[in-house]
Amino acid sequence: MDHSDYVIEELISAKSIAARVESLAKEITAHFCDSEKLTVVGLLRGSFIFIADLVRELEMPVEVDFLEVSSYGDAMESSREVRILKDLRGRINGRDVLLVEDIVDTGHTMAHVQRLLRSRQPERLEVCALLDKPSRREVSVDVRWIGFEIPDEFVVGYGIDYGQRNRNLPYIGKVKML
Ligand code: IMP
Ligand code: MG
Repeated sequence: MDHSDYVIEELISAKSIAARVESLAKEITAHFCDSEKLTVVGLLRGSFIFIADLVRELEMPVEVDFLEVSSYGDAMESSREVRILKDLRGRINGRDVLLVEDIVDTGHTMAHVQRLLRSRQPERLEVCALLDKPSRREVSVDVRWIGFEIPDEFVVGYGIDYGQRNRNLPYIGKVKML
């Protein structure tokens, strides 16, 4: 892939992200405050920075686990096929689960992962996504907490990649092809 043919324009600053993560964590803490059995499940790899920041603001005891499914490959278009690449290490049967995702785009990934996790019979399952592109939705999904709604733009940073690059940007930017 040629990495010289685009520029990145800041869309959401590191400071805005931090403020939003703090308020999301407050809402999540209020929702699960009575829970002694919460597993926070991060969808790899795009959610790794978000989940790291989010769990440090949660005030109840939590376990952290990760799931990786295939989606985009290295392209900008979502493939509709979803396969498990790395499964959870722990059991979620009877536990409360908070699924943490980077972006809900068409909704196919989230719909599939929610079905998968529900089949394991958690007591409660809620979803928190950092970004939502509602105009791109093809299947409706149930997402309780959303960090930011964004327009139909391809974004990178704060864990999110384009061709595996730019995950380390501290802010979220949109990719502009030259
Ligand atoms: P969906 O199945 O179409 O909802 O796609 C969700 C997945 O596509 C997310 O988990 C992201 O990994 C990826 N994705 C969607 N939009 C973007 C983007 O703008 N930048 C990078 N990855 C994206
Ligand atoms: Mg992803």
